[in-house]
Amino acid sequence: MSGRGTAGRPAPGPLQIRDAEVLRLEPAGAYHALTLRAPGIPERTRPGHFVALAVGGERSAMLLRRAFSVHRVRPAEQTVDIVFAVHGAGTAWLAARRPGDTVDVVGPLGQPFRVPEEATDAVLVAGGYGSAPMFVLAEQLAARGGRVAMVLGAATAARLFGVAEARRVADEVMVTTDDGSAGERGLVTDPLPALIDRIGARLVYACGPMGMLRAVARVARSRGIESQCAVEEAMACGIGVCMTCVLPVVGEDGVTRMTRSCVDGPVFDGARVRWDILADRTGVLPDDVLGADAMRAH
Ligand SMILES: Cc1cc2nc3c(=O)[nH]c(=O)nc-3n(C[C@H](O)[C@H](O)[C@H](O)COP(=O)(O)OP(=O)(O)OC[C@H]3O[C@@H](n4cnc5c(N)ncnc54)[C@H](O)[C@@H]3O)c2cc1C
Ligand code: FES
Repeated sequence: MSGRGTAGRPAPGPLQIRDAEVLRLEPAGAYHALTLRAPGIPERTRPGHFVALAVGGERSAMLLRRAFSVHRVRPAEQTVDIVFAVHGAGTAWLAARRPGDTVDVVGPLGQPFRVPEEATDAVLVAGGYGSAPMFVLAEQLAARGGRVAMVLGAATAARLFGVAEARRVADEVMVTTDDGSAGERGLVTDPLPALIDRIGARLVYACGPMGMLRAVARVARSRGIESQCAVEEAMACGIGVCMTCVLPVVGEDGVTRMTRSCVDGPVFDGARVRWDILADRTGVLPDDVLGADAMRAH
């Protein structure tokens, strides 16, 4: 991946930085906040983009990069922040890095959130570390003159991320936890309908677990407004060649196709994702998905 266009301006598309320096790695509640120096990536990045990090070092058997939403970028310092949970061996390796270590990073990847040019009132909904990309999005919406409300939810208080940051960037913030250890006990979707109505939101943005996205998309649809959902399908290549990350999405023509979330997403119009099929997870595609009938003939 090239670094510069012919006119000396940054070329579009992602960059690979093989030796992105770890500047900061510290705990953030149940998560880790990592800052990398990754020249060229900050100015290309928009809210909703993700980066893919190589894990395990040069001799590792962990060949697949791990995907993380970009939390913030600082073009002046050429830094990229991510927030991650230790999940398995790859993220455990990442959590053991120290300032001065280097990490191989590719980014920005995927399609970011769509931000209308005109002032648009919006509700931003996040589950756990799903709030990471939402704060810059909130700032951009507010800069265009829209009112912004945020709902942050998690299983417990420790698994919330960025409540103080949310209060700085949003006009209104609601917090929910499954166990009631912070904010209201319950789900992010509990206060959502009233919040949409109260601020007259025309758009809902969401990032978090699939079940949450499905529920948010349903609420937005019931209010007759658009939702943009950042999905987190397991990914292998991250650049559109392996089809690991496909999910059923309805196209403009009304036909459902298996669509790559790494290059066509991760942000999708919530009304176009076939959450019904995803929830099934039976591995059997209904006949109305393009190509499903042909698969059954084999
Ligand atoms: C677009 C996108 C954005 C993401 N943003 C974040 C983020 O901001 N913070 C964060 O903590 N995590 C994020 N994730 C999930 C993160 O990629 C996984 O937790 C991580 O890959 C797990 O790697 P591991 O080696 O620790 O776990 P393992 O389970 O050992 O991983 C093995 C394989 O499974 C895949 N995998 C495992 N869990 C997930 C998962 N939940 N989602 C997708 N792939 C998975 C990995 O990519 C890897 O190839 C994101 C995933 C995607 C697709
Ligand atoms: S992860 Fe390979 S096509 Fe999306």
